[in-house]
Amino acid sequence: MEQTILIICYLIASVTFILGLKMLSNPATARRGNLTAAAGMSIAIAGTIFLYKEGDTKLGNYGWIFGGLVIGSIIGTLTARRVKMTAMPELVSLFNGMGGACAALISIVEFHHYSHTVLLGSADTTAAVNGLQATLLIILAGLIIGSVSFAGSMIAWGKLNGRIKDFAFKGQHIANIVILLTTLALAGYLLFSLSASNALVFYLILGLSVLYGVFFVLPIGGADMPVVISLLNSFTGVAAACGGFLYNNKAMLTGGILVGAAGTLLTILMCQAMNRSLLNVLIGSFGGSKASGPGGAKEQGSYKEIQLSDAAVVMSYANKVMIVPGYGLAVAQAQHACHELEKVLEEKGVQVNYAIHPVAGRMPGHMNVLLAEADVPYDKLEEMEQANNELSTTDVALILGANDVVNPAAKVDASSPIYGMPILEVELAKNVIVNKRSMKPGYAGIENELFFQPKTSMLFGDAKDVLQKLSAEIKAL
Ligand code: TAP
Repeated sequence: MEQTILIICYLIASVTFILGLKMLSNPATARRGNLTAAAGMSIAIAGTIFLYKEGDTKLGNYGWIFGGLVIGSIIGTLTARRVKMTAMPELVSLFNGMGGACAALISIVEFHHYSHTVLLGSADTTAAVNGLQATLLIILAGLIIGSVSFAGSMIAWGKLNGRIKDFAFKGQHIANIVILLTTLALAGYLLFSLSASNALVFYLILGLSVLYGVFFVLPIGGADMPVVISLLNSFTGVAAACGGFLYNNKAMLTGGILVGAAGTLLTILMCQAMNRSLLNVLIGSFGGSKASGPGGAKEQGSYKEIQLSDAAVVMSYANKVMIVPGYGLAVAQAQHACHELEKVLEEKGVQVNYAIHPVAGRMPGHMNVLLAEADVPYDKLEEMEQANNELSTTDVALILGANDVVNPAAKVDASSPIYGMPILEVELAKNVIVNKRSMKPGYAGIENELFFQPKTSMLFGDAKDVLQKLSAEIKAL
């Protein structure tokens, strides 16, 4: 009876993971989706703790289990509550690394169980030997993928918070291939030798996998980390699914497969939205230190500046304003000030919408999450295609801390690193007002011709400060 209830718990968990993931695809239901999947996970954990049996024995060790649960929950809750929106990618990376480490730890524990079985010599038939080999294959897959994901995620976390600098040496890609092939060869040896005395080889595989994870992520441009994190996320999912196979645990298997598939799809979608191949991201052709260089790009031609009072007049007499948020809005934490401006304009009878580029900011859905935090209604957010259709009938396109995602070079300059990336065609609007702090480039480290076009006016300053003053000016009109 208890085992039937446990199976039902896992079934409920699996269904909630799928429903939760589906709800996450829409900002309006995303929060509920997260809670639904978390509730399913809680049911699976509770079921495992209280109902799971190995033979006739229940798990026991409740002190350790609940001690770990309480400590983990406190650390997780506090970290997630305190994290700034701009630091979200690094938090995701840290949590993902923990998932990878868990999968690797499962493999270590299960390798010792496996060794014990081999030492007892219980595999005396071909079927038993095949069974052991299959188990060892899954253990090794979980170990290698989990450790690569753990080490890579830790490096990504360090790079994003500035503790680790980009590092590459000549021939690094060859060294990476050699490490990977050696790891796989050792795993093959372990798999076919079926000897329990090979713990040394096992730990060598663990060490090499960690080294590979470090070397794999170290040379990648810091700003390309979101794509790498998504890729590592899919690795963690696959490693967790290996654990599901080992324990014949359906919830773990479903969860792992969903994370693996979602991470892979997200990686592909991000690369497509930037019009870059995954290989191009992994061997790094733009972004990283180049983009964040202190000097910025060389200025070209002359640009026009607009004063706050003039910008306020232009916007308050407009019929339609399209706000284009970018990474700078997140840096300035100006989402609430932005929502305030939207309300002030609407009180003046101006129609206000937001144009959302799929890779604006530094993580998938960055702008959606940022604006949702400020309670901007979801129906005001327009996806790129829809926004581009609207822009030709827009009076003012107000660009807030966005740069690459509105750079026309993506359409016209075949030599540009962002050539081919779909952009928000803000130059279709009657007036373009760009708010940023300087003429420095964005993530791709390149000049933006838009800033020098006749209909563009630059409104310099920190986004939050500018938006607050702009709202005050418009109210006073
Ligand atoms: P960016 O091109 O990075 O431009 C952001 C701009 O914000 C900068 O030019 C900066 O100019 C300005 N800024 C910074 N702090 C500001 C502040 N406090 N107030 C006002 N402005 C500020 O951003 P984007 O247009 O959002 O494009 C995103 C880029 O990231 C794309 O190239 C994309 O490919 C890349 N990327 C995105 C993702 C995802 S998934 N979103 C993943 C990987 C890469 P100043 O310094 O002059 O102020």
